[in-house]
Amino acid sequence: MTPTNLAAPKACVIGWPVSHSRSPMIHGFWLDQLKIAGSYEREAVAPQDFPEFAHSLAARGFAGGNVTLPHKEAAFALCSRTTQTARMLQAVNTLWFEDGLLCGDNTDAEGFLGALDQDAPGWADRAENAVVLGAGGAARAILFALLQRGVKQISLANRTKARADDLARHFGPAVESIAYDALPAALKHAGLLVNTTSLGMKGQPPLDVDLAPLPAFAVVCDIVYVPLETDLLAAARKRGLRAVSGLGMLLHQAVPGFERWFGTRPSVSQELRALVEADIRG
Ligand code: ATR
Repeated sequence: MTPTNLAAPKACVIGWPVSHSRSPMIHGFWLDQLKIAGSYEREAVAPQDFPEFAHSLAARGFAGGNVTLPHKEAAFALCSRTTQTARMLQAVNTLWFEDGLLCGDNTDAEGFLGALDQDAPGWADRAENAVVLGAGGAARAILFALLQRGVKQISLANRTKARADDLARHFGPAVESIAYDALPAALKHAGLLVNTTSLGMKGQPPLDVDLAPLPAFAVVCDIVYVPLETDLLAAARKRGLRAVSGLGMLLHQAVPGFERWFGTRPSVSQELRALVEADIRG
């Protein structure tokens, strides 16, 4: 790491738009809690300006930053060094410097696993089979995470089946692309169901999946966190299933970046959760 100002390192979140990002609140909380003299800023950067901005990050005094939509793939292409996870996902959400070189990691998979471990301890013991809905960038990170953790068989369903077919091919035989009408049969054996689509998000239609076939030990996980409790999670809780919201993933994916820029690994505490939850509830 080569921060320009070692006494008070600064980092930022780069997006377009970026006004909705809760990363400044999360990192600001940790900086205060850990009494670190650093700062975390918000940078609205248009796609055409992103390469110049990324290359001048150190000159602007940043030790690194988070990258959010729509820059994650562009960031991957610009990095001189990337982690194996970033290469697997072809996308970067965390930037820092080593030997003066721009480095990139993707912490979405680690964040997803951190959230499941914290919010549904022991989930992996029962999740030999899982069902994942959606086939975008989030689905890719979550498939990678689940396989890394030892899930044996994943059924992948998506509105546009061809996208799920492509993604399944990318991961090999452990991931099978299935049609939506094959979901009940797949859910019957699943210890974990994950929604990676934007359905259920504020302003979007709800996700309409019948949870009845799921075994009683199954965990239902949504990557959506606005609202905190989606209809999917409410339906899961009503059936007595463990339900995990996307908030945990948002908080846990921020941990590795903070550690790289500010030198201390922060924890995802109840106090931090309550702060971000209150902001989401408005
Ligand atoms: P991300 O990279 O954040 O995962 P994305 O690539 O836009 O975002 O993917 C969004 C996912 O939500 C996709 O799986 C998308 O399905 P399609 O591949 O068919 O587009 C899914 N999605 C979004 N709106 C949907 C809707 N109204 N009904 C069903 N699926 C939807």
